[in-house]
Amino acid sequence: MFKNFKNIAVIGTQWGDEGKGKIVDLLSEDADYVVRFQGGDNAGHTVNFDGIRIALHSIPSGIIHENAINVLGNGVVLNPSRLLEEIAHLKSLSLMRGKLRISERAHVITSHHIEMDKNSSLSLKIGTTGHGIGYTYLDKVGRKGTRIIDLLEQGNEEIKKLKEFICDTRVLLQDAIDKGKRILFEGAQGTMLDIDFGTYPFVTSSTTTLGGIFSGTGVRVRDLFVLGVAKGYITRVGNGPFPTELKGEMGDFLRERGNEFGATTGRPRRCGWLDLVALKYAASINGLDGLALLKLDVLSGFEEVKVAVAYDVDGKYIMRFPSSTNILKKIDPVYETFPGWGDISKIDTYEALPKEVKDYISFIEDFTKVKVMLVGNGPDRKNRLYNKKS
Ligand code: IMP
Repeated sequence: MFKNFKNIAVIGTQWGDEGKGKIVDLLSEDADYVVRFQGGDNAGHTVNFDGIRIALHSIPSGIIHENAINVLGNGVVLNPSRLLEEIAHLKSLSLMRGKLRISERAHVITSHHIEMDKNSSLSLKIGTTGHGIGYTYLDKVGRKGTRIIDLLEQGNEEIKKLKEFICDTRVLLQDAIDKGKRILFEGAQGTMLDIDFGTYPFVTSSTTTLGGIFSGTGVRVRDLFVLGVAKGYITRVGNGPFPTELKGEMGDFLRERGNEFGATTGRPRRCGWLDLVALKYAASINGLDGLALLKLDVLSGFEEVKVAVAYDVDGKYIMRFPSSTNILKKIDPVYETFPGWGDISKIDTYEALPKEVKDYISFIEDFTKVKVMLVGNGPDRKNRLYNKKS
């Protein structure tokens, strides 16, 4: 289905953990390049391959395909020792199949950044992953960061071990574009964690939205299809506003059923109903061309399924995602309720999905004005149903 598009960006529409790894894994079969453009090893992209569940942190999810050149762009921040560990782990499973290229301009996460992140009261308040991401970006914009090229020139031993992968990835990608190669951009985290458009200050420190591709790679990409990824419900790890959060039994049930524990930190994820106000906001910021809606099987067996369609703030309905942290705290979501559905994990075509699921999807499409192109009905690679009509 996606073969008609030359370049594709896969962007999270929620607070991360939408299942981007699974989508990138599927799409990278046909990609020449798979590119990460922001974030670092705070990401945890889970890929299920031949019964093996692998959580990738820095390396793009295309690495398990021989054809793909996997690029870590200049916008990424890198922890060299964690990266070397990830490479060794993939090699031990014979899954380091594609090539890896690292931007010499990427900034380096040091032990000092990690210490600061683990111990600062700000990090505790936000509930960061503790991987030094924010403090590395802080030094970058403060113009006192260290880049891969700087360490290479200093003869740093760890960086020497990565030497074969390091290059000017901007030139590499420009050349690929000039030759008409197919590029897949793998967003990390999600729109609601974006440094500008997320629930500031409870966000990550990079541009997780579409704009991050341009600054994080240095190339002008034409013919770009923007695919948003959402789950049929929402999760959030760490602190901060979450209007549709389900506390109590229902939230616990979703967490267990959906195995909603952080791939990077193991932390339990907060769970809640799908928020269409937030999804519409994400669709607009990223100019989404299509949507992948995953984990609908997790909602099987619920008597009813809800989606938020507006926010009630002090008795006034609002439809726009607010910038104010104070308003976000006061939101009472207004829900549309749908009848639930039974087990859909064995279904193998989109057409065969029950009417309840199709009605739910149509409502999402009408509300967001974005077509659902793919539905996920289970954790495995085969659990993907393409909507041929989209
Ligand atoms: P940091 O990116 O480690 O600075 O953490 C900032 C916020 O982003 C925290 O709420 C983290 O839990 C969240 N976060 C960072 N990376 C991810 C991710 O890959 N998935 C989900 N949440 C993330």
